[in-house]
Amino acid sequence: MSTEQQGGQKTARASNVAPATGKLGVMVVGLGAVATTMIAGVEAVRRGLAKPIGSLTQMGTIRLGKRTDNTSPLIKDFVPLADLNDVVFTGWDIFEDNVYESAAHAKVLDEKTIEQLKPYLETIKPMPAVFDQYYVKRLHGTHVKKGKNKRDLANQVIADIQAFKKTVDRVVMIWCGSTEIFLKPTAVHESIEAFEKGLDTSDIGIAPSQIYAYAALSEGVPFANGAPNLTVDAPALIELSKKNAAPICGKDFKTGQTFMKTVLAPAFKARMLGVSGWFSTNILGNRDGEVLDDPESFKTKEESKLGSLDYIFQPELYPDLYKDLYHKIRINYYPPRGDDKEAWDNIDIFGWLGYPMQIKVNFLCRDSILAAPIALDLVLFLDLAKRAPELRSRGIQEWLSFYLKSPQTAAGLYPEHDLFIQSMKLKNTLRHIMGADLITHLGLEYYD
Ligand SMILES: NC(=O)c1ccc[n+]([C@@H]2O[C@H](COP(=O)([O-])OP(=O)(O)OC[C@H]3O[C@@H](n4cnc5c(N)ncnc54)[C@H](O)[C@@H]3O)[C@@H](O)[C@H]2O)c1
Repeated sequence: MSTEQQGGQKTARASNVAPATGKLGVMVVGLGAVATTMIAGVEAVRRGLAKPIGSLTQMGTIRLGKRTDNTSPLIKDFVPLADLNDVVFTGWDIFEDNVYESAAHAKVLDEKTIEQLKPYLETIKPMPAVFDQYYVKRLHGTHVKKGKNKRDLANQVIADIQAFKKTVDRVVMIWCGSTEIFLKPTAVHESIEAFEKGLDTSDIGIAPSQIYAYAALSEGVPFANGAPNLTVDAPALIELSKKNAAPICGKDFKTGQTFMKTVLAPAFKARMLGVSGWFSTNILGNRDGEVLDDPESFKTKEESKLGSLDYIFQPELYPDLYKDLYHKIRINYYPPRGDDKEAWDNIDIFGWLGYPMQIKVNFLCRDSILAAPIALDLVLFLDLAKRAPELRSRGIQEWLSFYLKSPQTAAGLYPEHDLFIQSMKLKNTLRHIMGADLITHLGLEYYD
């Protein structure tokens, strides 16, 4: 469909996306560093205390029509997104700390900011969690649900969702909980039926994150996964997502080192520069770092972080450039730095006639400051997807790969990791659902 002229402004034709009326309820699993930074940040923005920097939904624009049209509205003015003032948070955690206490513990935001927001943050108290230390070795949860089997626990989460639904108009769930041990899909994940039987028998293959996801998707609630856990990356949950028009979207927030990787690697490939080695190391001292210090949780993270380069470089197409690439990732728990992660990358590249060169990247980042706007955007875009007839029953929302270290795709389809392809895909999806012309960057018409 095309755009049309209205009062000199190009606007998209009316779309069939339902408006974002009323309150959007956001159910957050795990009220730790990322979650509390997102919640406190949203409240700070609502009060005009700070700007939502890093959030595409809040600050990004989208070009419509030709470059000569000069039409680039804010994304939030182009698509009907929930207004931040209509967002209501709740959540679960294995500790009883309210969001104020948890934010103070996480030490991401300064004391002054947290104190200013205290009356609001204190009101958000976690519901008891579904937790089993088998899946996160380094944590000892005390605020946890008890049930006779996993089905019982799933039903308790469903009851939490149903109760929350009575207070808001729409609901989205996001996992901001810890990284679970590395799990591969098994027979229990093959179909909804097998999964439900597995809930009855408390199958060991079903991790807590999958119990929440199952509850959400059963209730038609979209689900995002900020951690690298298997969670919805399994046929049973994909099927449930489609069946109940509850969108899902891949896993593991793409924040620091992988974000940089998926910017730099496409540049090397675009210029046909070879890469022989990529060594990445990190020091991190927050609770996430502590959890990842356990080899089984680290394995889950490592798999997620390793994937991007192989897909971007396509060594099978470019054996001379990337076949022998040695890629190594290390995460070291180092308490003195707290949430202020430091990442180093040494990249050994080679150019014309094979001459070697090196690139060093030293990223001194703030993990949760980078992750919070991503969590917010995922929530707002999943809620949009649920209201878009074109998207809601497709299950996986590949256009949200932009935000994730491990994009999820249809079976047999390789994931796009290149940040700029992902960004283009995201924006074209928005144009598409709003009935605006897609932008191909061909641009021949300017030379007619
Ligand atoms: N910060 C980043 O840049 C970033 C990037 C990518 C992914 N992640 C992932 O996001 C997740 C959250 O990171 P974080 O820094 O906020 O960690 P965190 O340890 O501060 O918070 C995680 C919270 O989840 C809770 N939790 C664990 N298991 C739970 C369960 N079964 N139910 C309910 N609550 C549970 C923990 O008690 C904790 O409060 C981690 O898995 C991390 O790997 C973070």
